[in-house]
Amino acid sequence: MLRQYDSLVLGSGVAGLTSALKLARFGSVAVVTKKTRAESNTNYAQGGIACVTSAEDSFGLHVQDTLTAGAGLCKEEVVRGYVAEAPERIRELIDTGVRFSERGMAGGLDLGREGGHSKRRILHAKDMTGREVERALLAAVERHPNIVVFENATAIDLITSSKIGRPGVNRCLGVYVLDNLANRVDTFAAKVSVLATGGCGKCYLYTTNPDIATGDGVAMAFRAGVSVANMEFIQFHPTCLYHPLTKSFLISEALRGEGAVLVNDSGQEFASRHDPRASLAPRDIVARAIDAEMKRTGAACVYLDITHKSEAFLRERFPNIFAHCESLGINIARQPIPVVPAAHYQCGGVMVNPDGATSLAGLYAVGEVACTGLHGANRLASNSLLEALVLAHRSSVEIGRTLLTASAVPSVTEWQEGGAGDPDELVIVTHNWKEIRQIMWDYVGIVRTDKRLARAERRLEILLREIHEYYWNFKVTGDLLELRNLALVSWIIVQSAKRRQESRGLHYTLNYPGTLTVARDTLVDRRDG
Ligand code: FAD
Ligand code: SIN
Repeated sequence: MLRQYDSLVLGSGVAGLTSALKLARFGSVAVVTKKTRAESNTNYAQGGIACVTSAEDSFGLHVQDTLTAGAGLCKEEVVRGYVAEAPERIRELIDTGVRFSERGMAGGLDLGREGGHSKRRILHAKDMTGREVERALLAAVERHPNIVVFENATAIDLITSSKIGRPGVNRCLGVYVLDNLANRVDTFAAKVSVLATGGCGKCYLYTTNPDIATGDGVAMAFRAGVSVANMEFIQFHPTCLYHPLTKSFLISEALRGEGAVLVNDSGQEFASRHDPRASLAPRDIVARAIDAEMKRTGAACVYLDITHKSEAFLRERFPNIFAHCESLGINIARQPIPVVPAAHYQCGGVMVNPDGATSLAGLYAVGEVACTGLHGANRLASNSLLEALVLAHRSSVEIGRTLLTASAVPSVTEWQEGGAGDPDELVIVTHNWKEIRQIMWDYVGIVRTDKRLARAERRLEILLREIHEYYWNFKVTGDLLELRNLALVSWIIVQSAKRRQESRGLHYTLNYPGTLTVARDTLVDRRDG
């Protein structure tokens, strides 16, 4: 089936929904999303959104904290621009209906604190900020007459003019999309396509991310010849709940902002041995400190102790975390919480300019899928939702000015099924999926070595060949598409890690423990593999 829109947005997290609302001013918008509309990393965000709002804070301090966390790799002009634009984007979010927590009798917004921040500056909706943002944005999208949302629709690949044999400048003309319920591939043609597909936490065995985070946008852009930057910088969140009955549940850094302390299984504080900021140091440092402590003691986890706070305070400030832990028999006001680091955030991504434009005409990337230079080698906590808001705004201004007023919806070639039969050995998909995630966890984790990276590369290349063969022989399914993307993105992470012959921010390797004096981006593209 052929569908035509002015703009096509892939993904319905904060970046995709904000883009859709802003692009709807210029014409019709299709939002394509692979599960139900709210299912996204955004929906699970806890801590909040970093933004200077208090008289004790300043743009200069927020900029400095971001640059310090980013370990010399942030683009300073991008950081300055995004930090200064944050209050305007937050104002829009409030106007759209987002209700941030307030300070009770004192009035004004309640400000949380997280690692690497020198001031309290995190706007939050208790410990469910993402859910509140997603709720308000979805409600606005559903009210808008120019926006249509396609759920259970997995984008497969970008349609480019060169791929379908058109002469002239190569540009993005739309996307092939698998309708997961009808089991049919539809062709979406659009004047402009926006990747808002989020990150790739599922490349790793343990992650805070939900199942949607399989790196699809990075993989699609890479296959279309667009450069991908800094993918070695995978952020491991220090405190994911460690419990056999739960999967991917985050214990927000905001607890450490309220004084929670990391302790080992003997109850001793250990983070201050690694950094004077102790439990509130930037995430790369805290995650490495936990990793070292677990290796030193042989323990399966460490603990986060917030028992100095009253049960009443914790139930009010962190209702989601309190209730989840309580359902597992952990009263966080009385006992320390077992935690481990887990893959959390992709600091690199599809290379874009500060307005979200990629090197492929007609293709923009916004949110976690994009690499703007804001995060450098390690993202400062709660700068991600902020980046998504600013980037969605900026790209929509750019798109409105240059594209929608000028061009017509392009004609495209529809998807060719090629007579492939249904896959009969789904066990291969499940097995390869598990194997990739184990390889990445064991060999491309918090501490790396050349030997481990080479081992991961060899194994991933065998898997990629196997998946490639399987992909072309059978009719596509959602699982197969995700597996193909997961394998490719894991390989890109390894290529990027191999190229960075230094330790910087989130990339720590025993072979090159020092940091080079000049900081450079790592770029990988189709010519590399
Ligand atoms: P997402 O919100 O992940 O949305 C991606 C969308 O793309 C989804 O709708 C998905 O279904 C869709 N999609 C993916 N692939 C395809 C495809 N092939 N076809 C169609 N659709 C597709 N950041 C902060 O700043 N503050 C926080 O407090 C915070 N807390 C966090 C807590 C948790 C548990 C996690 C996991 C992350 C947290 N982060 C936080 C990070 C932040 O939530 C994400 O970086 C941000 O929400 C990303 O938004 P996004 O719109 O780019 O992607
Ligand atoms: C958290 O609440 O700890 C997550 C914040 C973030 O990832 O920015």
